[in-house]
Amino acid sequence: MHIDLIPQWHILTYNIFMSETKRTKIAELLKTPEKTGIGNLVTIKGWVRTKRGNKNVAFIALNDGSTIHSIQVVVDLADFDEEMLKLVNTGACISVSGLLVESPGAGQSVEMHAKQIEVYGSADPDLYPLQKKGHTLEFLREIAHLRPRTNTFGAVLRIRHNMAYAIHKYFNDKGFYYIHTPIITGSDAEGAGAMFRVTTLDMNNLPKNESGEIDYSQDFFGKSTNLTVSGQLNGELAALALSEIYTFGPTFRAENSNTPRHLAEFWMIEPEMAFYDLNDNMDLAEDFLKYLIRYALEHCKDDLEFLEKMYDKELIERLNFVTNNDFERLPYTKAVEILVASGQKFEFPVEWGVDLQSEHERYLVEKVFNKPVILIDYPRDIKAFYMKQNDDGKTVRAMDVLFPRIGEIIGGSQREENYEKLMDRIHELNIPEKDMWWYLETRKFGTAPHAGFGLGFERLMLFVTGMANIRDVIPFPRTPQTADF
Ligand code: 4AD
Ligand code: MG
Repeated sequence: MHIDLIPQWHILTYNIFMSETKRTKIAELLKTPEKTGIGNLVTIKGWVRTKRGNKNVAFIALNDGSTIHSIQVVVDLADFDEEMLKLVNTGACISVSGLLVESPGAGQSVEMHAKQIEVYGSADPDLYPLQKKGHTLEFLREIAHLRPRTNTFGAVLRIRHNMAYAIHKYFNDKGFYYIHTPIITGSDAEGAGAMFRVTTLDMNNLPKNESGEIDYSQDFFGKSTNLTVSGQLNGELAALALSEIYTFGPTFRAENSNTPRHLAEFWMIEPEMAFYDLNDNMDLAEDFLKYLIRYALEHCKDDLEFLEKMYDKELIERLNFVTNNDFERLPYTKAVEILVASGQKFEFPVEWGVDLQSEHERYLVEKVFNKPVILIDYPRDIKAFYMKQNDDGKTVRAMDVLFPRIGEIIGGSQREENYEKLMDRIHELNIPEKDMWWYLETRKFGTAPHAGFGLGFERLMLFVTGMANIRDVIPFPRTPQTADF
């Protein structure tokens, strides 16, 4: 429809409207054009993805991040100031008011005929790093401050939001309470990984004690402190009062592992449940993962379809497959037998007692069982002190959930609730008791069987988005040598 064909009443609405300029999100316009009103005057605001056209008319693809889809804005050049339009380039941020009409072009249901354009911020085409399409993911990591403006990262970030929301919804609907566990910790008993120190001591002038060691009694907390590697130990305290709780927060590990599956700062979801044994724990983990994947399939369809088209042709099929099949459950010992008998050449050789590497985990999942696997009853020497000891004296009630393409996505266990057995383990491992007295008291006063697990949020995101590198599923990744943005 051409501007001079707008009926009179539209001009009227337009005038009234212009004084308000209430913004409509593009997702709303595309979702329910009949409600937002074909033929109505609306205002949209967003970033220009592309501009093309001819002498008379320009077509602008505008995106405001509310959906993967951009809306086409048709600009009759004769109606606008030439200098102003020169500023409307890829990357510029603009506000457009105009008429929403059915689109004659293929690929979009509606488009907008611009009546008024305001430029909030231009983007010099010679300098704007996202001027052209088709950048590599590696390059986009170097401009993590701008990559949310790409279709890929828009999709990833919207899915990430939906997954975070679904996690809270899942637990809330089940009557679990969200517990905020501390980020700064004075105990490093968990042993889940190397820790980052937190200190206010002057690095150039460290106070020393008589034996020449750093005197942390002069530090902010009067002791040596670190960033947490897990919220579990604090989570257990709450579970032994509220029955079913979960934590969902950032965790930090200072390992120098530069892999596509490790971050130095990642988010973890850790439910902890009184009166659960290992089987209950496995049931919850499987149900939880399936719920989240189903939620993504239902609520992130457009974004998943985009990622499937661009990066991973089997993405949606794989997501459906996981939600529709039972996970395989088997003991570690059995898994090692299978791996040894496979005759497969692994980079890291397998024998009973070794910690499985992701190549072993993926072999089991992708080649042997062809579905997610939950391994249980690991050797106690490769697992944390708090895991419940089996009667065989060799293994503990641990569980790792292994996923296609990812390997370990969840690690958890039934916890040792017996005070004496826990103390034996603590002595064996030389864990300083004085740091752990509060944890141990839960086993002294009203101890209860309980269990829990930790889901790596970014590992989940890798699986759900089909992205190959964990750096591409968190907005601002922290990895060795990288903490920009
Ligand atoms: O297996 P982990 O180390 O288990 C714990 O921390 C327990 N306290 C959890 C519990 O029982 N409450 O870590 C749990 C999960 C892993 O399965 C993995 O998905 C993820 O956290 N994870 C990482 N994700 C990204 N980068 C890293 N460096 C990770 N380390 C672990
Ligand atoms: Mg683990």
